[in-house]
Amino acid sequence: MIRPVEIIQKKRDGAELSPDEIAGLVSGLLDGTVTDYQMSAFLMATFFRGMTDRETVALLTAMLQSGKVLKLGSVRAPKIDKHSTGGVGDKISLCLAPLVAAAGLAVPMISGRGLGHTGGTLDKLEAIPGYRVGLSPARFERVVREVGVSLIGQTRELAPADRRIYALRDVTGTVESIPLIVASILSKKLSAGLDGLVLDVKVGRGAFMPEPKRARRLARALVRVGNAAGLKTVALVTDMSTPLGLTIGNALETREAIEILNDRGPADVRELTLELGTEMLLVGGVEPSRGAARKALERALADGSALERFSRMVRTHGGDVRAIERPERLPRARSSVVVTARRSGYVTAIDPLALGWSSVALGAGRARAEDPVDPGAGIEILAPRGSRVTRGEPLARLHANSKARAETELERVAKAFELGARAPRRTPLVVARVR
Ligand code: URA
Repeated sequence: MIRPVEIIQKKRDGAELSPDEIAGLVSGLLDGTVTDYQMSAFLMATFFRGMTDRETVALLTAMLQSGKVLKLGSVRAPKIDKHSTGGVGDKISLCLAPLVAAAGLAVPMISGRGLGHTGGTLDKLEAIPGYRVGLSPARFERVVREVGVSLIGQTRELAPADRRIYALRDVTGTVESIPLIVASILSKKLSAGLDGLVLDVKVGRGAFMPEPKRARRLARALVRVGNAAGLKTVALVTDMSTPLGLTIGNALETREAIEILNDRGPADVRELTLELGTEMLLVGGVEPSRGAARKALERALADGSALERFSRMVRTHGGDVRAIERPERLPRARSSVVVTARRSGYVTAIDPLALGWSSVALGAGRARAEDPVDPGAGIEILAPRGSRVTRGEPLARLHANSKARAETELERVAKAFELGARAPRRTPLVVARVR
């Protein structure tokens, strides 16, 4: 038995830990032989000293083995997932997962809830009346096998060490450590029995890692460590300096994702869906080239097969498919107010961080983990970046369960829109590709 204090000292002094030492620390946390304060000290030492890739693989393996690892052995198609580090207006999973399933992949996607200023796929799915995000592992496997796609929530059995460690990181200032982030994300993803993973690492003001250099470093570390752990992994670093699409908030975003599946919707959401989908088909090896993959995806949007996959998945999860056929049936907030331009000009920037927090304040996110969300609450962007408005014209519509609540965010949202004399330059959506 290695004493926890010796492992902490070793990390503190910058030495490399062995896989056994790391595994001992993680299993000790779960069986009570390592205390929360010892693990916290270790996390802080790691924050400052970092980890080698060998150590990071050992940490993610120990976290993975702390719980159940799904095999999904009865699923024949390549099992490929996508993970985003989180953004504002990021509803991509909802349209991407059924789209790539229609193009030949199996997508066992375990999603999260809103975190801080960013939204979560589970909250968006639950805007569909009746949709159940909790399935047993056996049922999850059956849905992935029969429908090709299932979107569920994190269960207590998968990577429980990550939940414990994340809770400590959250309150000890150690969230923003690249090896800790890498081990956390990959342990959860590997527990779903994947063959490959495409990561969407966001960069820019609305991202969890806003700085370009650090976002690229995170992307490279995820790809290196993912591949070293036996998971075929690639990453796109994508722009989050402006909200994605024209909606922020659960039902509003679900509606926009359905638009994309109907071969319509905002160009940036469609483009990112196709970019990530192309990477997924290539990782899964179901298409021979980038061009062929893109064509297959465009076809699945145009012929309705992607939408049909989504409807089948929703029905299998107990959801009301009439809300897919007629999205006006999705929940709506009781009140709305319009934010207008205080001067004329081009919309040169829209602050995603401000809009993310406003959307939370309107009821689309949570102040505490146990709070419910208001599915209809959120923000519709009426004047996207690059558009020209004259004074008094609408910029955004705010939805909340009361007019008074909607009005509380008028000021913050108005300030989030930057107006200038000249049209802004177009910014690339995909900033870097890491493989
Ligand atoms: N998302 C995760 O799942 N874990 C992290 O550490 C950071 C983001």
